[in-house]
Amino acid sequence: MRKYFIHTMGCQMNEYDSQRIASILEKMGFVPAETMEEGDYLLVNTCSVREKPQHKADSAIGRFKQIKKKRPEVKVGFCGCVAQQDGEKILKNSKFIDFVVGTDGLDRLEEVIACVENGRRLCDTQVNDGELTIGSFRRNVSVSSFVTIMKGCDNFCSYCIVPYVRGREKSRTPEEILTEVRYLADNGAREVTLLGQNVNSYGKGLDEKISFPELINEVSGLDSIKRVRFVTSHPKDFSDELIDIMQNNEKVCEYLHLPLQAGSDRILKAMNRKYTYGHYRDMVMRAKERIPNLALSSDFIVGFPGETDEDFECTLNALREIEYDTIFAFAYSVRPGTGAEKLVDDVPEQTKKMRLAKVLDLQKEIITRRSKEYEKTVVEVMVEGRGKKDENQFSGRNRQNKVVNFSSEKELNIGDFAKVYITQARPNSLYGKALEEDSDVRG
Ligand code: SAH
Ligand code: SF4
Ligand code: F3S
Repeated sequence: MRKYFIHTMGCQMNEYDSQRIASILEKMGFVPAETMEEGDYLLVNTCSVREKPQHKADSAIGRFKQIKKKRPEVKVGFCGCVAQQDGEKILKNSKFIDFVVGTDGLDRLEEVIACVENGRRLCDTQVNDGELTIGSFRRNVSVSSFVTIMKGCDNFCSYCIVPYVRGREKSRTPEEILTEVRYLADNGAREVTLLGQNVNSYGKGLDEKISFPELINEVSGLDSIKRVRFVTSHPKDFSDELIDIMQNNEKVCEYLHLPLQAGSDRILKAMNRKYTYGHYRDMVMRAKERIPNLALSSDFIVGFPGETDEDFECTLNALREIEYDTIFAFAYSVRPGTGAEKLVDDVPEQTKKMRLAKVLDLQKEIITRRSKEYEKTVVEVMVEGRGKKDENQFSGRNRQNKVVNFSSEKELNIGDFAKVYITQARPNSLYGKALEEDSDVRG
């Protein structure tokens, strides 16, 4: 039996796409390889959001090249966002690569592989028209699973390559999404995360009129689904209707990823984010007031062209004021073809590094203090794993998406819910023990 190996980089959407690639290959009779070395088909699913992940693709592909040197019958495939971006150039520059498949090309992957089997080298970076259909596919279902509900982005933030490599915003029909969620639920999923670059504009362009909050209600209507999460929301489209549903629908977890990117209005404008810090702050404060124990997370870019020390200070102030539970911060990286490519990348690398370190240090200070608030409280945890050495040890996440490690006298299974008394809080994880009987649960 021939084996495949997929190396995945980038965001959850790439993880999802890799599961889809795996299912297509398995339908064609391939089986997963334990290691890269034993794969007959070696695929890399790439990310081009910054320079660093793009370089990671080069190093993965370099390893594939070594394997192919020893076993020339091996086929090498280059997929994902860098594939969409560079297309034919990849085939031209790297003779050992057999096929390049862009972000919309998964629909035709089976045909592409059939051609590769016949000895052809080819590139499919065709962009699909019409609505987004993924259909249903079989996969190894995990208790917490992702479902793509839309793809692409129409926002064109000036630094970002995603609209170019993922194309225009397209939504999947609610029927298709519900069929997939039902399949996941039937196979053990208890938590689903709805994925899109900009989930708040879900439904745009569909024949059926449906908003994102309405979709959440439909998904959470399935009995076996106990928790619903979603990423990513764009602050300019974040609505009070969504706050309502987070407040009223008990399956929707109190966790919101709402990327601010920068605290300075001047920089936000240059980034084409279409909101001011004041607007963002008011919205977040409203959400915090109405949703008890809401955890917030955000992405930040430091060193955007023209960012002065004063601008950067605004980002630090935003961190202090909002008090996020988690942040992802990046140094600005020029991306080919984006609006900001025309701006002079004038913040020295050293300054970008220093600002990044400052942001991360400040956040660490904030979260160390905030995490402590969990000590001596009880949280709801969905069991996602158990200790390898100690049978009584379990792990999972609370509703706020924090990792919780705990012990339990009672036997628990993956997908069970436990009420856990927190004895120790570290910045990134909580520790505690499961309660035997019912008691009040925080959040
Ligand atoms: N759709 C999501 C996330 C897209 S990419 C959103 O709109 O928030 C994930 C994160 O990568 C972004 O939020 C941004 O913080 C970061 N990012 C994107 N382009 C970047 C660039 N050119 N340089 C540095 N960071 C970047
Ligand atoms: Fe990129 Fe902006 Fe779209 Fe997010 S909203 S994917 S940052 S263009
Ligand atoms: Fe990267 Fe593509 Fe996701 S560029 S962040 S893998 S959409």
